[in-house]
Amino acid sequence: MILVGRPEDIPLGEAVRVDASADSGVPIAVFNVDGELLAIDDTCTHQDASLADGWLEGCAVECPLHAACFDLRTGMPSGPPAKTPVRTHEVVVADGYVYVRVEAPVVDPVPVQAAAQAEAGFTAAGLTEAARIETAA
Ligand code: FES
Repeated sequence: MILVGRPEDIPLGEAVRVDASADSGVPIAVFNVDGELLAIDDTCTHQDASLADGWLEGCAVECPLHAACFDLRTGMPSGPPAKTPVRTHEVVVADGYVYVRVEAPVVDPVPVQAAAQAEAGFTAAGLTEAARIETAA
């Protein structure tokens, strides 16, 4: 399990970011939704933005970069531009500390992110050829 901190380190309506570790492979964000702690992968599946820096709206977080919203219980995006869900993680509070249980670490997040970007019509160099043709039409 990954140590996050003490419950009081995560104020109501706020989030904390836990850096990537060998146990997670990627950064994790933990949100305090009306006293309930919910954890997801921190990086938006659309592009490289920290969801811990986003805006909490009920049980969803809005990405600070292009405003995709993710349900914190399911990880599902509510609409574009994100199409791929973020992973959700179990939060455990024990002996006065908050932990996140990550089922399987992401060994190499780059291919996952590249696939999500390609699906959205982007590559590291810009639009994919298919997206260029679609945009030009
Ligand atoms: S980076 Fe999150 S919606 Fe674009």
